[in-house]
Amino acid sequence: MPPTGSLVRRGLASLALGVVAQAQLWDQTIDTTYGPVKGFQYFDQATLETYFNISESNVTAYLGIPYAADTSYQNRWRPPQPRQSWNETFHAVDFGYTCPTAMSTNSSEDCLNLNIWTNAASADAKLPVMVWNQGSDLSSNIPYWYGGGMALKDVILVSFNRRDDAFGYLAHPELNEEGFNATGHYTSGNYGVLDFLEVLQWVQANIANFGGNPDRVVIAGQSFGSSQVYHAVNSPLFSGLFHGAISESGIRYPYDPMLAGLATSYNNMSAALNHGLNYTTFHNVSSIAELRTLSTEELMIGSTDSVNNTWINWVEALSCGYPDIFKPVLDGYVLPSTYLETLRNGPANDVPLITGNTKDESGASPTTNYTLAEYREYNTLRYGKDLASRFFELYPDHNNQTIAMDGWNNAARDQGKVGSWAYATQWYDSANSDFYTYYWTHAPPGQSQGAFHMSEIMYALNAMYACADYYPFTDEDYIIADQMSAYWANFAKTLDPNRGGSYTSSGLLSRWEPNSNDGKQVVMELGDAFQQQVITSPEKVNFVMEYFFQQTPY
Ligand SMILES: *[C@@H]1O[C@H](CO)[C@@H](O)[C@H](O)[C@H]1NC(C)=O
Ligand SMILES: *[C@@H]1O[C@H](CO)[C@@H](O)[C@H](O)[C@H]1NC(C)=O
Ligand SMILES: *[C@@H]1O[C@H](CO)[C@@H](O)[C@H](O)[C@H]1NC(C)=O
Ligand SMILES: *[C@@H]1O[C@H](CO)[C@@H](O)[C@H](O)[C@H]1NC(C)=O
Ligand SMILES: *[C@@H]1O[C@H](CO)[C@@H](O)[C@H](O)[C@H]1NC(C)=O
Ligand SMILES: *[C@@H]1O[C@H](CO)[C@@H](O)[C@H](O)[C@H]1NC(C)=O
Ligand SMILES: *[C@@H]1O[C@H](CO)[C@@H](O)[C@H](O)[C@H]1NC(C)=O
Ligand SMILES: *[C@@H]1O[C@H](CO)[C@@H](O)[C@H](O)[C@H]1NC(C)=O
Ligand SMILES: *[C@@H]1O[C@H](CO)[C@@H](O)[C@H](O)[C@H]1NC(C)=O
Ligand SMILES: *[C@@H]1O[C@H](CO)[C@@H](O)[C@H](O)[C@H]1NC(C)=O
Ligand SMILES: *[C@@H]1O[C@H](CO)[C@@H](O)[C@H](O)[C@H]1NC(C)=O
Repeated sequence: MPPTGSLVRRGLASLALGVVAQAQLWDQTIDTTYGPVKGFQYFDQATLETYFNISESNVTAYLGIPYAADTSYQNRWRPPQPRQSWNETFHAVDFGYTCPTAMSTNSSEDCLNLNIWTNAASADAKLPVMVWNQGSDLSSNIPYWYGGGMALKDVILVSFNRRDDAFGYLAHPELNEEGFNATGHYTSGNYGVLDFLEVLQWVQANIANFGGNPDRVVIAGQSFGSSQVYHAVNSPLFSGLFHGAISESGIRYPYDPMLAGLATSYNNMSAALNHGLNYTTFHNVSSIAELRTLSTEELMIGSTDSVNNTWINWVEALSCGYPDIFKPVLDGYVLPSTYLETLRNGPANDVPLITGNTKDESGASPTTNYTLAEYREYNTLRYGKDLASRFFELYPDHNNQTIAMDGWNNAARDQGKVGSWAYATQWYDSANSDFYTYYWTHAPPGQSQGAFHMSEIMYALNAMYACADYYPFTDEDYIIADQMSAYWANFAKTLDPNRGGSYTSSGLLSRWEPNSNDGKQVVMELGDAFQQQVITSPEKVNFVMEYFFQQTPY
């Protein structure tokens, strides 16, 4: 991953162009809910010429606009609170503070801020909007999701910081009481999800002033951000605030045991309350009121711990790790129902959806290196007496370690693909909108982790210009990025990845068919090729589904 930092601000000094007939957005002061803001001309000419083969653009960026109050002390573990308005113009030229996490170096609990990249020549442009939600413990200031490339495809990109870890997901009986007083539901532990809700409400209220169309908002996210997107799809609180959704790595089948370890998992309320009570006593206090007096540094202790192996089987954890203790909570309110219930009863928000997996994630990796004996032992434990022998027939090792490692990786890939396919197929039993699935296969150059978790993002968001210092991209990468980002931008424009005119290279954009309720076992490959492919053999599909149905669903 590229290091966080103010790469764009450093690299892209603004360049005074000649006189323009109309005042550009960057010359204007824009009114927002909390006060006036001013952005800046985002691209310099060299960047435009090098990465986009154009010499000028209207892209204006606004960085670090606060969308809610400081979350420290008395505001901890509350929904985002209103911020005091400002009267002086806020110069939105630097990313705001990141929320405190184990990975953040310069953080503050005053971290609820957002960024906007817009290509609007005026506030009347009515451009579609994509709100980006990054993975767990990451900040909005990472080049993978810098928004200039989407803006150039006439989609406004909004990214934001939100609370993570214990700051975002602490549940506690006293907080449930507070939640009950405020909402009539015993709710706590979803503060980071409510931050996302607040951003979407802010977008409704303000994006028109930046040339955006509040009636065409697509939410997109990856990994933990993908689960936030999915929670929004499932939650009535989010109704009317968005019109399409992209969940990258991604929606899996509710019976997939790896859900317990992956970023898309959640805690049930009783588990979350146990964690919250333990966190409280661990900090040598007995109440939320006292926790609200501790320093950020004190609260960081134990905030990012993972559960131990009594919570997730270690064989599963080999493929997905041990999950964070603090994550969204199935509270019957913000998260109204389990994944299985939503699949059966229909989502709160029946909107077109894109989801998919990357080739080298969730257990698959080019550097998988177990011994033959480990391959046999681990898979025997994972699949159990009933299924292990069939597993070894379908994924044989031929007594050869190389072949065994291919088997390991292919099994992991099949599990992800079959799960997303099964979800897509069943989606149509209770929902009407199109459901698109993809399988990302391209390995960015200059690294050895293949098509790793996150590797599709810079292509999908047309952010190559911000990442080229970290990867030795070739022409092929830029062509792939143009295709990927055309699907993403088209989807923002028309809720259909195929329509919208966002593809600018030669030839036609390959058609991406949505999944269908007839259960056709296909997925759209994106990356090294752009074509529909069979997910895996029908025998393997049956095998994975049988395995799933032996598990406890999420
Ligand atoms: C760049 O744009 C010019 C003018 O539009 C065009 O002639 C040229 O082929 C483009 N170059 C590339 C590499 O796309
Ligand atoms: C910038 O906006 C102006 C309208 O203010 C428009 O005439 C011009 O074509 C735009 N430039 C680009 C590169 O999009
Ligand atoms: C902004 O102006 C209003 C009206 O003059 C005033 O009441 C308010 O205190 C001012 N806010 C700040 C933050 O200065
Ligand atoms: C920390 O982040 C804030 C907000 O983005 C910024 O103003 C400040 O310069 C940063 N400090 C360091 C040392 O990077
Ligand atoms: C909930 O409301 C009741 C009645 O107004 C009040 O007595 C109680 O202190 C409140 N509890 C919390 C945790 O805010
Ligand atoms: C809640 O989650 C914990 C941990 O995953 C699990 O042991 C427990 O059975 C669950 N409780 C309910 C009521 O589902
Ligand atoms: C709680 O108190 C114990 C004993 O004084 C101390 O060792 C420990 O560091 C404290 N825990 C935290 C999280 O401050
Ligand atoms: C309580 O929290 C601490 C700090 O995260 C952790 O080390 C400990 O294992 C937890 N205990 C239980 C019973 O969860
Ligand atoms: C693992 O966590 C559970 C629940 O927090 C706790 O009861 C158990 O003691 C822990 N086990 C180990 C080995 O730390
Ligand atoms: C795999 O692991 C073995 C034993 O640890 C080591 O000798 C070998 O170099 C590794 N192979 C790869 C491709 O990493
Ligand atoms: C193991 O399989 C690989 C891939 O098919 C092959 O290249 C290699 O020669 C095999 N190794 C042995 C010892 O047969």
